[in-house]
Amino acid sequence: MKVAIDGPAGSGKSTIAHELATQCGLMLLDTGAMYRSVTLACHEQGVDTSDAVAVGEVARRVQIAFGTAADGTQTVSLDGRDVTSQIRTPQVDKDVSAVSAIPEVRDAMVEQQRALAQDHDVVAEGRDIGTVVFPDAEVKVFLTADPAARAHRRALQRDIVDADEEQRILADLERRDRLDSTREVAPLRPAEGAVHIDSSSMTIEEEVAQIRGLIDEARGKKASSEPAAKQVETTEAPEVEARPAKVKKEKEPKEEDPNDFFYDTDMREYPLRHRALYLATMLVCGCISKLFWPWKLEDGEELWNADGGRMVIMNHVSMLDPVIIVISDWAHGRRMRPIYKSEFDKVKIANWFFARVGAIPVKRGTADLKAVRRAQRAMQRGEDILVFPEGTRIYSDDQEVTIHGGFALMAQLAKADVQPVAIVGARDGAPGGNKPLRPHRVFMRAGKAVSFDELGVKGRKKQAAAMEKTAMERVYALRDALRRDHPGKM
Ligand code: DC
Repeated sequence: MKVAIDGPAGSGKSTIAHELATQCGLMLLDTGAMYRSVTLACHEQGVDTSDAVAVGEVARRVQIAFGTAADGTQTVSLDGRDVTSQIRTPQVDKDVSAVSAIPEVRDAMVEQQRALAQDHDVVAEGRDIGTVVFPDAEVKVFLTADPAARAHRRALQRDIVDADEEQRILADLERRDRLDSTREVAPLRPAEGAVHIDSSSMTIEEEVAQIRGLIDEARGKKASSEPAAKQVETTEAPEVEARPAKVKKEKEPKEEDPNDFFYDTDMREYPLRHRALYLATMLVCGCISKLFWPWKLEDGEELWNADGGRMVIMNHVSMLDPVIIVISDWAHGRRMRPIYKSEFDKVKIANWFFARVGAIPVKRGTADLKAVRRAQRAMQRGEDILVFPEGTRIYSDDQEVTIHGGFALMAQLAKADVQPVAIVGARDGAPGGNKPLRPHRVFMRAGKAVSFDELGVKGRKKQAAAMEKTAMERVYALRDALRRDHPGKM
């Protein structure tokens, strides 16, 4: 069984191939690492990477092998020396496309790749696996993602948070894409019959499940086309549980979601009829909510007087919370986009309506890069983003709470301050479940915004963790103060 995964840099091939190798008991062949090793060998031996003859000789001489580190990740050795980290530097990034475009290098590598894979079930990833190395592979996948998402992944892998640096990564990826897909020998292109997967907004689990479906389907086909004795051998392979193939073959990447326009456009620039819909929604919901649940945002100037583009976070007690905070923002000339869990989009009309009032869906429990980027851009445009880090409504103080830290990452990327807001009273007015709505006073309070500078921590991950903790502590301190000042409100 050969599984071929091709695609541009940063499309997630390595992560997916590694997962598949582990889950399906396949040997992992990272062919990019081999071209990188040749590039490194040239650097170390002082060989000019534009000298095709000399580089070709290096490629024929080197011995590349793969091993496994204690943590289960793959290691790469060059002539018996571990070079796993040395092959992933900007210097190697810079020259590897030129090296891999040399026909003699490709011949030598393809020969080594076929030899390494001989007599093994393999998942191989690269640029020409389905077209050249294993054209008969039983499963062929062409993995893509939009360039911004790929650059962002690379930046995260390399612990880079600076937007300019990420732009440079993006420019380098685009440069390599161009070189890899326009070279004469074995250019990057989808193999015939390859299944296209656009991973821009998919989770790793979803991608792996999709390809596992293809592998299981191929294994099933193989088993049924082989003689009976052999069939037993194949179907007895223990690690892979049979799963229905969930995929349909698509020749073209997925179509754009018609709601994308609303997620990616400044709300003030929506077409007139959508701005009218927004105005009507604000007026109707504003009147009804003020009548039944007279509400107030105390110390609202903390938010209203600030420049637009804040990350607003709030405790979550009822369905009223997003409605009234959005209305109060709008009443002060601002625009706020709530982030909501994409599960709600199963209801078509909800999906349609939420998009038009500026809400952005996020796939929970995943690094939903598309949603992160959308929120970042919205804040950079001056729109506020609303996140409920508790993730779900908290009906009682005994309920276990998990804080979702995605808000800190979004704020970090947009260089936005985080605005804590707390709410009390809404739980009594709109208790949820089958309990009836009832009139009740609701109080919110805005606290002092938290900036990344004041955290006094260096390093992207540490900063995000500190922001998550400090900002949520402020939310809960505000909530406790509200409870003290308005006794009986929860
Ligand atoms: O996947 P990667 O970024 O590690 O690959 C490094 C380079 O190697 C990439 O710029 C293109 C080249 N490559 C190739 O030409 N053919 C392959 N099968 C794999 C990688």
